[in-house]
Amino acid sequence: MKSFLNVEDLGPLAQALEEARQLKQDRFRFDQLGRNKTLLMVFFNNSLRTRLSTQKAAMNLGMNVIVLDVNAGAWKLETERGVIMDGDKSEHLLEAIPVMGSYCDLIGIRSFAGLTDRDYDYAETVFQQFVRYSGRPVFAMETATVHPLQAFADLITIEEHKENQRPKVVLTWAPHPRSLPQAVPNSFAQWMMAADVDFVITHPEGYELDPAFTRGARIEYDQRKAFEGADFVYAKNWSCPGVTRPDDYGKILHDYHTMMHWTVDAEHMSWTRDAHFMHCLPVRRGMIVTDDVIEGPRSLVIPEAANREISATVVIKRMLESL
Ligand code: CP
Repeated sequence: MKSFLNVEDLGPLAQALEEARQLKQDRFRFDQLGRNKTLLMVFFNNSLRTRLSTQKAAMNLGMNVIVLDVNAGAWKLETERGVIMDGDKSEHLLEAIPVMGSYCDLIGIRSFAGLTDRDYDYAETVFQQFVRYSGRPVFAMETATVHPLQAFADLITIEEHKENQRPKVVLTWAPHPRSLPQAVPNSFAQWMMAADVDFVITHPEGYELDPAFTRGARIEYDQRKAFEGADFVYAKNWSCPGVTRPDDYGKILHDYHTMMHWTVDAEHMSWTRDAHFMHCLPVRRGMIVTDDVIEGPRSLVIPEAANREISATVVIKRMLESL
C-alpha cells in the first residue's frame, strides 16, 4: 500500500477487519517488522488521539518515530505555487517535502481543509504533494476531506458491539459554534457504504455531503425518523460542503442557537433501538451531545478512541510490508 486515503486503498474490508481482530489480541506480534524503519508524523493541525495512537501503533511494530508540528518550531511553510514569498512563510512545501522524505520510510500527514477554496481542499492538494514529492508511502491522519484511520476504527468498534448481523447505523449532524471540515463524516459515510450495515444520514437541508462519499446512502432530513430503529448513532458536526449551496462552502448555515434541537440527548436516544452512541472526539458537550448520553452505558466513545491504535497498526503494517 503506497498511500492510504480511501477505503478501497485497504483492499477487501472483511480481510482488514479480521487482521484488526487478530492484531488486537496480540498487538506486538509484528514488532520486528519496523526494525530500523522510521515513521515521520507531520502535523499542520492539533491532535490528541491521532498523535498518540499512531505513534503507539508504530512502536507496536518496532518503528522509530519522529513528530513534526509544522506550526510549532518548524519554519512556516508556503503551500501554494506561484506566490511571491514576501510574508511570514520562510520555506516552500515543495522543498520541505523531499527533505522530510529523506529522513524516513513512511509519512503520516494531518492537514485540515482551509474551508475557503473547495476545489483546493477536495483535490487534497497538500496530501497529494506529499505523495508526489516525498518518495515515500504516505497515509492520511485526517486530511482536507477524509479521516480514514478514524473511520476504520469506527467500523472495528461497530463490528465489536453489533447485536444483530446488519445493524442500522445513523450519522447525524449536530450543532457547533465553529466551522468544521467534512473529513470525518465523509470518511464515515464512505466506510459505512462499503460495510454490511443499513446506513442513514440525517442533517438539516444545505449540509448534503459530497456524493463521491455518500452515493447510495439514504438521506433523511427528519432526524427523528432517521433515529427510529437505530443500533448505532454517530454524531458529528460539519460545515456546508458546498454541494447544493456552492457559495456557502465551509460556512455555518444557521445561528447554532437555533439548531440546538439537533443535539443528541436522552430523548433522541429514546427514539432508537437502544442504540450505542459514537463520536470521534474531541466533542463539545451540550452542543453535540449531552453529558448523560456520552457518559451513559451505551456510549462507545472511549473504546472507539482506543481502536485508533488498532486501525493504525493494521495500516502501518500493510505499508511496511509493501516497502
Ligand atoms: N478523532 C481524532 O482524530 O482526534 P484528534 O483530533 O485528537 O487526533
